[in-house]
Amino acid sequence: MATERTFSIIKPDATRRNLTGAINAVFEKNGLRIVAQKRIQMSQAQAETFYGVHHERPFFKDLVSFMVSGPVVVQVLEGDNAVAKNRELMGATNPANAAEGTIRKLFAESIEANSVHGSDSPENAATEIAYFFAGSEIVG
Ligand code: PPS
Repeated sequence: MATERTFSIIKPDATRRNLTGAINAVFEKNGLRIVAQKRIQMSQAQAETFYGVHHERPFFKDLVSFMVSGPVVVQVLEGDNAVAKNRELMGATNPANAAEGTIRKLFAESIEANSVHGSDSPENAATEIAYFFAGSEIVG
């Protein structure tokens, strides 16, 4: 299996409820290594650019407002098939549809306050990692 890196965000609903450690425990128990991590306050411009692909979606404004509503933890996770593995651990976007044991089933409050973001492809992972991290900040 290929060792891969993916980009993750622990969202404001989760940092507010002190769930960073509990979410990181799910990653680490399931073979994902946290090779970079920082807690930041995302700016409006940063969030708008990061979610630019969703610009035309009806929820875009709400999503951006939510993502700047409090601190987030941006992360790089490394492991075998990390992109797909992380998507599996996260569960469905809407926690009502998320499988038992997934992060969103365990912790998410709603389709908006859904606790985590994870890259959906290796290509997007590379772009998203580079958006938040310098190479020197990632220590494998
Ligand atoms: S899609 O259709 O697959 O692109 O959509 P999806 O990946 O499920 O969602 C993209 C991101 O938008 C967030 N989202 C929402 N935010 C607010 N309100 C509503 N209704 C809503 N629906 C989806 C969703 O959490 C995704 O955020 P990220 O950070 O990428 O997980």
